[in-house]
Amino acid sequence: MVPSKAPRHFLTLNDISRDELNHIIQRAIELKSLQRKGQSPELFKNKVLGMIFEKSSTRTRVSFESGMAQMGGQAIFLSTKDSQLGRGEPIEDAARCISSMVDMVMIRTFAHNTVQRFADYSRVPVINGLTDDFHPCQLLADIQTFVEQRGSMSGKVVAWVGDGNNMCKTYIQAAALCDFELRIACPKGFTPRSDLVEAHADRVKLCATPQEAVAGADLVVTDTWASMGQEEQKKERELIFSGYQVNRELMNHANSDALFMHCLPAYRGKEVSAELMDDVYAIVWEEAENRLHAQKALMEFLFNQ
Ligand code: CP
Ligand code: NVA
Repeated sequence: MVPSKAPRHFLTLNDISRDELNHIIQRAIELKSLQRKGQSPELFKNKVLGMIFEKSSTRTRVSFESGMAQMGGQAIFLSTKDSQLGRGEPIEDAARCISSMVDMVMIRTFAHNTVQRFADYSRVPVINGLTDDFHPCQLLADIQTFVEQRGSMSGKVVAWVGDGNNMCKTYIQAAALCDFELRIACPKGFTPRSDLVEAHADRVKLCATPQEAVAGADLVVTDTWASMGQEEQKKERELIFSGYQVNRELMNHANSDALFMHCLPAYRGKEVSAELMDDVYAIVWEEAENRLHAQKALMEFLFNQ
């Protein structure tokens, strides 16, 4: 059956309004509390989520797959290796076929354009599970985690330290959506795209040093120095980024109750010190768990459009 109206996709944070974000976050908190009481409403009964992974994953796969199962639905895992996508089937053809058999699709891939092209030909909602440019599902979890601990992000100061990568760029979009100030410290040549920074110049500032970015911050965030697809640059990047580790000394420049987040996987001794990962203000495990709850709320929101 062909749906009567165009499906609602979630490819970047720009696909939802501030009100819709607040609704998803509040619902995620509610679903989490229900699950803690052993209740998981079977709202996705008979629904199937197709998951396409062209890159590795632990959290994204487990959270989407468990989320579907707990809410009464099912998920199908497809990787490039074991589907025709890996043998050159055009993404548009895959989109038409897969979306005629499932109720929602999640894709993790390289070029952001691939997700966009899939969505253009999909009959059902498409969720971006990470591209080279954006990781919006992670930001839903990060925002939920901050809101649970500290309340609204509006007016808060967030410091991004490290690579100007997909996570950094998603934080730039989040700054506009959640009304916080984002201070970014990256080595020269590794800052996020200038058009994105300039478009959000009212809230986003590039800083010369990690210390400058972190000064007075309510939340400090980092990520791996070499993202998926950049494995060959790992050694070179370790040298370039060596002054950008988030550790207790750097956190001392932030507000005394500043939180630390990392989307994981973390490389202890590189972008984050081992000791910081175990600090009381390092809320990375809650952040990871919230992928489950935030994505359940996201899928419910998209199914209800
Ligand atoms: N944070 C995150 O997306 O983790 P995975 O790569 O394990 O899915
Ligand atoms: N920036 C990292 C995030 C992993 C969840 C990557 O793209 O590999």
